Amino acid sequence: MLTRLFVKEGAEVRVIMTQPATNFISPLTFSTLSKHPVVTQFFSSQEEVWNNHVELGLWADLMLIAPASANTLAKMANGICDNVLLATYLSAKCPVYFAPAMDLDMWLHPSTQKNIQTLNTYGNHLIEVEHGELASGLVGKGRMSEPESIVAAIEEHFIHHSPKPLEGQQVLITAGPTYEPIDPVRFVGNRSTGKMGIALAEVAYEQGANVRLVLGPTQLKPRYKGIEVVEVRTAQEMFEAAMVNQTRMDIAILAAAVADFTPSEVSNSKIKKKSGEEGMTLSLKRTKDILATLGQMKKPHQLLVGFALETNNELENAQKKLQKKNLDCIVLNSLRDKGAGFKHDTNKITILDKYNSLQKFELKSKREAAQDILQKVLELKRTMTV
Ligand code: CTP
Repeated sequence: MLTRLFVKEGAEVRVIMTQPATNFISPLTFSTLSKHPVVTQFFSSQEEVWNNHVELGLWADLMLIAPASANTLAKMANGICDNVLLATYLSAKCPVYFAPAMDLDMWLHPSTQKNIQTLNTYGNHLIEVEHGELASGLVGKGRMSEPESIVAAIEEHFIHHSPKPLEGQQVLITAGPTYEPIDPVRFVGNRSTGKMGIALAEVAYEQGANVRLVLGPTQLKPRYKGIEVVEVRTAQEMFEAAMVNQTRMDIAILAAAVADFTPSEVSNSKIKKKSGEEGMTLSLKRTKDILATLGQMKKPHQLLVGFALETNNELENAQKKLQKKNLDCIVLNSLRDKGAGFKHDTNKITILDKYNSLQKFELKSKREAAQDILQKVLELKRTMTV
């Protein structure tokens, strides 16, 4: 599970297993998941190769020992090196995280606690055990932390130690659809899921920004607790939330699919069909354009990015929006491109900026597209004199 999650997040994973671990799960499973041979001993007789633990220890950006048994913890704390895992641990120059798993009495034993303290003093990082049902059937502390929590802890580590080009920047992002109520039961909405805006919020946060994400109704949430999420439903609510502290904002990226029109009147009770009624007309009025309003209020230090989802005359329409709404750049998606737009995990974008430069990108994951957009934001920031 852990290997699968790390690979899914784009990590290159190499697995070392101790001999007892191979009794629980076959090395083949891990080599299939990680797409690399699994190291179980110093010398693998089948391929006649010496597994160089020093090389492995130097190769890794981070070493995770999970589950870390009481036995392995004791050996790590005392420099015992009787298997290839421990040899790699002793050779590793990278940060080491360990996620213990054992029965509750073993966990509570003073020697285990002392070993953990020792490992902490060596600069290793403990991923706390959890309370719950244990392999013995007993209930208590000693369960390995959930794989998702372990991956989150490792991600936090990399976020903490990665370059922070957006450090100290106040970034506003809008994402998702808006739902415009017709009556207590029905609404006018669209198919946006918020994926692109959430990816932007996550990448901006990883790059050190203080992120405020104004999010329309969606099942999805950003993965970092440090992102301030303001949940809204309607275009009016999104407008109000986006205007809070507008003057303090440095960068605004408006990725939401805001309804351009909302019902002129909202019925307090469910609208019933009348007998003999063949149709019905819904009267709509314009919503406030958040992007255009921010464009009008824009201060010299502020940078404003809009999105345009077009089906035809894409470049021309996007160019017009860029100028009309006083944007620094606009991200264009064409609904004609396969894999781009709502619901997909991928996007194919073109970025146009106020200096008339145009950059076309390949079909990429929304996360990679978010990285490209923020790269462009940083380039534009550098051209600003304030
Ligand atoms: N936007 C906004 N507030 C609105 C409507 C749109 O902030 N009430 C933002 C979107 O988040 C997006 C951009 O404006 O960044 C889209 O521009 P828009 O002119 O609304 O595009 P369309 O809705 O496609 O409009 P048109 O029908 O003119 O193509």
